[in-house]
Parts: sequence; structure tokens; C-alpha cells
Amino acid sequence: MDNPIRTAAHLARVTQRRQDLKSFLRDLFPKPLSVVWEVGCGHGHFLAAFAVAHPELACVGVDISVDRIRRAMRKRDRAKLPNLHFINAEAHDFLDALPEGVSFSAIYILFPDPWPKRRHHKNRIMQPGFLSLVAARSGPDTRLYFRTDYEPYFRDAELVVREHPSWKVGRESWPFEQETVFQSRALSHHSLTAICRVGPR
Ligand SMILES: C[S@@+](CC[C@H](N)C(=O)[O-])C[C@H]1O[C@@H](n2cnc3c(N)ncnc32)[C@H](O)[C@@H]1O
Repeated sequence: MDNPIRTAAHLARVTQRRQDLKSFLRDLFPKPLSVVWEVGCGHGHFLAAFAVAHPELACVGVDISVDRIRRAMRKRDRAKLPNLHFINAEAHDFLDALPEGVSFSAIYILFPDPWPKRRHHKNRIMQPGFLSLVAARSGPDTRLYFRTDYEPYFRDAELVVREHPSWKVGRESWPFEQETVFQSRALSHHSLTAICRVGPR
């Protein structure tokens, strides 16, 4: 049985963490801004290279792993990139804590955890609810780029996009190549571009 004191302490920590994230993001993005968001950025290989190639774009990498974000931050500090930020957070918590004026020009989801067992599919990031939350901060020029080496996840993600009222599958080529840690371990991969159908924000 759950210990009510431990449960209450856990809830208090989660609430505090979310509040801290909110105020951190309010300070980081004091004005309306369009950003490139990488979900589950791992060690930051992709976004660090992307930010070097696109100094005019604000880039934000988010990962739930403290250790991976620490490594990513070391990359950013070494490269002295003012347009690049790495944040340790869960993706939905990050979305929830973002100031209202922050929108997405692009979203990258590269080699997300595949959760192969059916009963774990609910843990996958590519879900209709997630796409709705992202669409609420997107416009007609927003693209979501998804890449995986796990073909069943690729097929499911494509279906989720096809069936979502705010997104459609695009035929555009992949805009920026930079091998990630998981890409370097994969024998092959599949890429999907989703185009937002919502009106301009
Ligand atoms: C398989 S790794 C891929 C890392 C990197 N994108 C790459 O290609 O090397 C998946 C990453 O997503 C992160 N992750 C998983 N679920 C997450 C979530 N809900 N919010 C934020 N990060 C998440 C994990 O910590 C892990 O770093």
C-alpha cells in the first residue's frame, strides 16, 4: 500500500519542480519568440550542430535525463552558443510551463524510446494528445520531424499524424543531417515530416 506521507512529499516535490521550470522559462523567454524544439535531445549532438548552422534561430533541447542534459550543456558551453539552451524536463511538463508567447518553428523527435510492447505504447511521445499540445503553439509553417530505427513505431507515428486534424504528412526532404548517438548505433532509420495545418498564430 502507498505511504500517504511519502506520496504527499512526492507530490510536493513534483509541484515545486513544475513551478521552478515555469519561472526559469519565464526568465529565459521574456518576450514572444519562435523556437526550434528538440524533444528527448539526449547528449545534444543534433541540436548543438543545428544551432551552429542556424545562429539566427533559438534552439531548445529538452530531456528527462539529468546526466544527458549535463553532457549537452557542456557541449553548448564549449561552443559558446547563445542561441542554444538545454533543459532537464519531461516533454509535457516543458510544454505546460512554457510562457504563452513561445511558439514552435520546428520540432525534432530523433530516435525516441520505442516502447515496443503493446501495453507500453501509451508511453510513446507520438500520441494524438501530444500533437494537439504542440499544434497549439504552431503555425502553418511549423514542421515536426520524426526519425526512428524501429519500423513499427514509424508506421504508428505516421498513422497518428495522418489521423490528426492539425497535422498532415509532408513530402519534404529532411532539412538538416547530424548523426545522433542513437543514430550511430542504428543499422537504418525512417524519417517522417509532419506539417501543421492550423492557421497562423
Ligand atoms: C533513445 S534516446 C535518443 C536520444 C537522442 N535523441 C539520440 O538520437 O541519440 C531517447 C531520449 O529521450 C529522453 N526522453 C524519453 N522520454 C522523455 C520525455 N517524456 N521527455 C523528455 N525526454 C524524454 C530519454 O531520456 C533519452 O535521452
